[in-house]
Order: sequence, then C-alpha cells, then structure tokens
Amino acid sequence: METIHTVEWMKQVARAARAEGRVTGLVPTMGALHEGHLSLIRAARRQCSPVVVSLFVNPTQFGPGEDYEKYPRHWDADRGLLESLAVDYLFAPAASEIYPTGFRTHVEVEGLSDRLEGRARPGHFRGVATVVLKLLEIIQPRFAFFGRKDAQQACILQRMAKDLDLDSSLEICPTIREPDGLAMSSRNAYLNAEERRSATVLYRALESVRQEIESGERDPIHLVARARATLACESPVSVDYAELVDSKSLEPVMRLHGSCLFLLAVRLGKTRLIDNALIEEIDGNFRISL
Ligand code: PAJ
Repeated sequence: METIHTVEWMKQVARAARAEGRVTGLVPTMGALHEGHLSLIRAARRQCSPVVVSLFVNPTQFGPGEDYEKYPRHWDADRGLLESLAVDYLFAPAASEIYPTGFRTHVEVEGLSDRLEGRARPGHFRGVATVVLKLLEIIQPRFAFFGRKDAQQACILQRMAKDLDLDSSLEICPTIREPDGLAMSSRNAYLNAEERRSATVLYRALESVRQEIESGERDPIHLVARARATLACESPVSVDYAELVDSKSLEPVMRLHGSCLFLLAVRLGKTRLIDNALIEEIDGNFRISL
C-alpha cells in the first residue's frame, strides 16, 4: 500500500490508473476504522482495482463545540487494517492540502441539508458535500462507496452527484452492526459501560417498527409512536428525532410507499447516535432493511 499525502500526487496516480483503463474505487473515511468501514473496502475490492481509501478528519463538517479535536485518531492501527485488506492507496492529506489559504468554495445541497441531522448540526452537510466533491474530483473514481448507516449523508451525496453530473457512481452499502444490534460507529468509543448498554435501544426501536409493519401497520404516526415508546424505555436516552421520510426528498410521508427511511437520532450523555431502517415496497409487500 502506498500512502499519499498531497493532492497533486494523488491526482497523478489516479490519472495514470484511468489511462490504463483500470476501475478505481474510492472509500472516503475519517479513520478510527471499524467493521463498517472495512465492509465498504471489501465491497470496493470486489468491484475495483485500484482501491483508494481516504483518511481525513474533515474540519469543515464539525460545528463549533463538536468533537473535531477529540475525534478518535488511530493512525497505526488504521494503516495495519488497510494493509491487511490489500488496499492500494491510502490518501491522507493534511487539512492545509484540502483547504489551502484562501479557500472559498463550498457545496450546498439545498433542502436536504438543513433538516434532521442538519438541524442539529448546522453546516455539517455543507462540509461533507464539499470534501466529498473534492475527493471525487481529485481521484475521479468509477465507484465511490458509502454506508447506509449515514442515510441522510448518502442521500445528499447522491443528489449532489446527480445534480453536478458527476461521472462517479455512488454505491450505498448496508449497515454493519455489533452482535447486540448497535450500529458500528467511531463515536461508540465515547460511550461508558451503562450508555453502551442503553445504546442498543436504537436497534430495538427499529426492530419494533419492523414488527409493526410486518403485522400490517402502515400509518407513519403509529410507527413513529411505537419507536418513541421503545426509546422511552431507556431513561438516559433523549430523542432528537424519530421520523419516517421519503428516501429521496427526506420529507415526512403521510403513508408508507415506494422507498422510505425511518430515521432516528438520540443523545446519550454527551454522545449523539443515529440509526435508520430502509423500508422498500416490493410487489405490495414491505421489505425492511436495518
Ligand atoms: P466516517 O464516519 O469515517 O464513515 C466513513 C464511511 O463509513 C461512511 O460512508 C459511513 O456511512 C460508513 N460507515 C460508518 N459506519 C458504518 C456502519 N456501521 N456500517 C456501514 N458503513 C458505515 O462518513 C464520514 O466518515 C464522513 O462524513 C466522510 C464521508 C468521510 C466525509 O468526510
């Protein structure tokens, strides 16, 4: 694996791979790698060569008072994992490479970025969209891999790719969970033992929604109430939002249809956790993917 620190060298390497007709895959990450990230890299490995993993804790997607400074950084462990997965290139630029002095341009995906996560974290998705567009421009991968764990992020990036006619195709991969259902996340490391036990309530809430749908419930108001009732069982958990939305517009839906997302965000002590279920209508039946 070659580690690349500059935009210029990354561009040259990526350009050479394209000139040889190779299919480049990109997996953008902020490091502190876990099985969720590794599943994206394995998906990239199956479809692409070379595989580029970017590791960049992107300052512009953290708000003031958020955890940019204390975001976990595990450089040596991450490098070891990437080597073991036969990743070809690790792109690890300094912040000054991505945002040199005088940087002025940002990407705003209007309407999708200010709701749900965006309401709690103003400017977050502007930072995400900007850095991902830059990575896609620098590397110009045929495929870029993202997790459905961050469903709103995936939705916004897909909208951006379509609106800006990007050549890269965005692949959205399933959420990887701990054995007790908690979605893997670099931020789970912030939870103390008691919070960690309570954190499974997100999964339990989504499971309760799944059971309701499987037993015929179709009314979003009832489904949201069911999830909230499950979440209320864990007193240290405070609900930020629990919403059933259309998977493209992220607007709340009046009835289950086509493709919807059940999105959850809670606070547990100082940690914010998100999770979701994708609900798809297939031949009149609903398939729920957690
Ligand atoms: P990060 O949180 O490091 O996540 C990198 C990628 O891993 C994202 O696409 C995320 O959705 C995916 N991922 C995280 N947990 C997952 C899980 N449990 N199962 C499956 N996939 C999972 O998301 C970011 O970084 C940043 O916003 C980034 C896109 C890199 C831009 O800075």
